[in-house]
Amino acid sequence: MASITIRNLDDEVKDLLRRLAAENDRSMEEQARIMIRAAVEGQLGPAGRIEQIEKTLRELTGSHGPATPVAAVSNQTPRGSLSGKRILLIIGGGIAAYKALDLIRRLRERGAAVRVVMTSAAQEFVTTLSVGALSADRVFTDLFDRNDEHDVGHIRLSREADLVVVAPATADLMAKLANGHANDLGSTVLIATDKPVLMAPAMNPKMWSHPATRRNRATLQKDGIAFVGPAKGEMAESNEAGEGRMAEPLEIVAAIEALLDIRPKPLAGRKIIVTSGPTHEPIDPVRYIANRSSGKQGHAIAAALARLGADVRLVSGPVGIADPVGVTTLHVETANEMKDAVEQLLPADAAVFVAAVADWRSVTSAGEKIKKVAGEGPPALQMVENPDILAGVGHHRQRPSLVVGFAAETQDLVRNAEAKLRKKGADFIVANDVSHEGAGSPGVMGGDRNKVRIVSKAGIDEWPEMSKGEVATRLAALIAERLKTIVV
Ligand code: CTP
Repeated sequence: MASITIRNLDDEVKDLLRRLAAENDRSMEEQARIMIRAAVEGQLGPAGRIEQIEKTLRELTGSHGPATPVAAVSNQTPRGSLSGKRILLIIGGGIAAYKALDLIRRLRERGAAVRVVMTSAAQEFVTTLSVGALSADRVFTDLFDRNDEHDVGHIRLSREADLVVVAPATADLMAKLANGHANDLGSTVLIATDKPVLMAPAMNPKMWSHPATRRNRATLQKDGIAFVGPAKGEMAESNEAGEGRMAEPLEIVAAIEALLDIRPKPLAGRKIIVTSGPTHEPIDPVRYIANRSSGKQGHAIAAALARLGADVRLVSGPVGIADPVGVTTLHVETANEMKDAVEQLLPADAAVFVAAVADWRSVTSAGEKIKKVAGEGPPALQMVENPDILAGVGHHRQRPSLVVGFAAETQDLVRNAEAKLRKKGADFIVANDVSHEGAGSPGVMGGDRNKVRIVSKAGIDEWPEMSKGEVATRLAALIAERLKTIVV
């Protein structure tokens, strides 16, 4: 399969790619793939003016940075989420050291200056030459380098950074810091720094689960060291799998951004209600009516809104996934409980209804388990309609300024979504076509991807297929944009 060599692209295109990638939290390759797919699907309009393409791409990819003409910035440092930040990266000696090279690129793409310290073991895996070329700075390796001590020195090295990142953090580096050892440049910098430290551990699963490593990790956490990963998966060594894989470079970048708290917070001070997951409608104490909603999309939206600074109240039906970080989650079972919880949370600035609420419930929920009675056949279930929570809030006297609904349709997607928009009093409906579903197809309940259209009075905006996380990020940006123009 052909691959894209970003290096070979025109400077102008490279700049555009770099900025869009940084704004969207993607690698440049991933951003390029999305752009190519959009071009193939004819969403970029007539080729030609780069400003037009940029504008369309911003709309397509949910990037909301100011549409500065590319030419105006092509000779400047790329505007990125880490612009002006100084990262001191300590590379430990492990096979995952090769991922540190990519991490340097990702950090620089986002505007960070990266200085690197390599342990002697790290130099067995990657060379100072490649690290220096990527970081565009000299690489520091020796504690007793005469030049370093006169020039930068370990104290200055550790202080002239906004954050110290250890990737890969080996069992040895963790043990050294946990016990206060300082016998090489990396460990000395770690003990000398007054800046936050983030560790991305990487080691064999047996080493990670060893009581000594667990003890060291607990000590380091108590000392305020932040961790990202490790993840579960295949190890570089053959036939080894388990917990110990280093987090991917973009996950480490996200952890760095969170630690430095540099993301803009356009939703600060805004209260937003989100519903998510299915509802369970009891038939008797052991049986209930349910659906296959996993809650993944709703929970991702709650998390994305919180990342933009919103005070998010998530009302979740029964799901098997964790409560999102930074969100206040209320757990309910039935549609009626969900409705009460949502109404008690009013007033709010916005409400996003992602839950797959059961349309009906059994009229009577038996207090005792319904027994089979010989000769009587199955019991008849009498159903009654559940309240429509979205419609209730859409027409409420305390209606939030922005009300967003979801609609999964199998036919007449747009017409049905437009009807729901009116009937339920929503500002826009996020509609997905679930007519061609099979395992793994976009929009499938419980799946990880989604392909949606935003239906509003202003028209229909079709988004390309993307992960539920990306839909969430983009929808949160759209909500922030809409709330910005609503004066309360
Ligand atoms: N919704 C709700 N309360 C309900 C039913 C739906 O809040 N009792 C919300 C959902 O969270 C979603 C939107 O309404 O945001 C559309 O849900 P959907 O199930 O597609 O619509 P229905 O009104 O149930 O219509 P139908 O199932 O007939 O398509």
